[in-house]
Amino acid sequence: MSVQAIDTPAFIPTAPARRDKPASVLNQLFGAASRNLVQWWTAESFRTPVTTNTILGTTYHAINDPEAVRRVLLDNVENYPKPDQLARVFPLMVDGLFGTDGAPWRSQRRLMAPVFTPAALQDFLPIFTEVAQATAASWEHEQPETIDVAAAATRATFDIISRALFSAEQGLAGDEAADHVAAMLDGVGQVGIMAYLGLSQFDPSPRARAGRRGTAYLTQRITAFIERRQADPSPPADFMTRLIDAFAADHPPKQAAKLALSNAVTFLVAGHETTANALAWTLYLLSEQPNAQAWAAQEAREALAGGGGPQQVLGRLVYLRWVLEEALRLYPPAPRIDRQALADDQLGELVVKKGDYIGVWPWVLHRHEALWDNPDAFDPERFAPEAKAAQHRFQYIPFGAGPRICIGAQFATAEALLILTEWLARFEFSPVPGHNVEVTSDIALRPKDGLPLIVTRRA
Ligand code: HEM
Repeated sequence: MSVQAIDTPAFIPTAPARRDKPASVLNQLFGAASRNLVQWWTAESFRTPVTTNTILGTTYHAINDPEAVRRVLLDNVENYPKPDQLARVFPLMVDGLFGTDGAPWRSQRRLMAPVFTPAALQDFLPIFTEVAQATAASWEHEQPETIDVAAAATRATFDIISRALFSAEQGLAGDEAADHVAAMLDGVGQVGIMAYLGLSQFDPSPRARAGRRGTAYLTQRITAFIERRQADPSPPADFMTRLIDAFAADHPPKQAAKLALSNAVTFLVAGHETTANALAWTLYLLSEQPNAQAWAAQEAREALAGGGGPQQVLGRLVYLRWVLEEALRLYPPAPRIDRQALADDQLGELVVKKGDYIGVWPWVLHRHEALWDNPDAFDPERFAPEAKAAQHRFQYIPFGAGPRICIGAQFATAEALLILTEWLARFEFSPVPGHNVEVTSDIALRPKDGLPLIVTRRA
């Protein structure tokens, strides 16, 4: 069978209605648009190279010209560090790879590069397959008809990252830890304007309080874990051991422990919900397109039947890769990338002033009418080699681009593909009649209220 033989009819998957005019300042700060970032956009935003918004004296340019994106993320990257809100929204991550800039970031990225080489990734592949198989086995055993696939994907990717990071040590894996991490993320997504004003520790809402409890639990557990590891003469060769060793080479023990904590939280946060949402959106798209799903499932079964280890299985996947790439285009799990100009600059026609914020929104860029044919339609063949070669390198950036490109991109891609292979080979995923899938985004882009799907064992 040739891949081109598949006939995928044009399907326009779920997306929020576009506004005729921009959301009001009040709505952006306190209303629905503050809680759901994909509600900001007007139809015009998907046609123009730049959308500028001035709010409380701050100018924010959302840029959608791939050449301008290239200048911000690569050619003039020194002029565009991350804005300082991150420290207010997520103080625990601020010393880690995601939160730092300049020389400290360069040093950490260099130290961590060996943990993410293709050779190092090999060690993690069996974990991806084992966790995916465990989820599949529980579905086979319990035989539930409807499954919240988004929740199942979040749990699977949490189990993977906690095994990869901490060898699933007691207190950093399992239901209790998963619940605290979920509460912490939920709290961050919830506090919105309070966090931006640096007041999140005073937010009295139950979600913000649960978020603070989750943060305290993780800080305490991970700090104790790092102390034990620093004292262990022969620790297991997991992710954290590699990080602690890498920092120990350049920093005194206390500083190394602080950096290891910040990065452990960074990897827990950045390394599971994003991949879980990529999985959920892929399964949503395939559930709506039975032909595409049948093709992907056939490829998954053949890839597994071919034998060998997970690396060989990955090498046999073609169509499923395109489907995943298309899911990341339509529903980028990290829908925004923010920067702030250190000095005046020019981005094409746009004059940028020192202090202006620059937003690169994969959510808008990936659906921009000047860049894509039928941008809102699901069409995995956009990622067939010839079609992909015709795209601008900076029009498709689910993992960011330039020196700060996601360090976990290969990890996430291999993880998502191996999980999808195991699940699609065994089960068919179909929509639940009457359930409308909606898009929401506080920080991550996810299906609102989860993604219930009917999951049926394949013959
Ligand atoms: C589908 C899954 C994922 C998506 C869509 C994603 C997306 C992104 C994006 C867009 C950035 C750049 C942010 C910016 O430039 O401001 C980023 C950075 C980062 N990601 Fe991911 N990510 C994913 C999975 C992962 C995983 C599995 C890990 C870890 C195991 C990870 C760790 C990180 C880290 C540490 C950074 C900061 C890198 C730096 O600044 O040097 N991500 N990710």
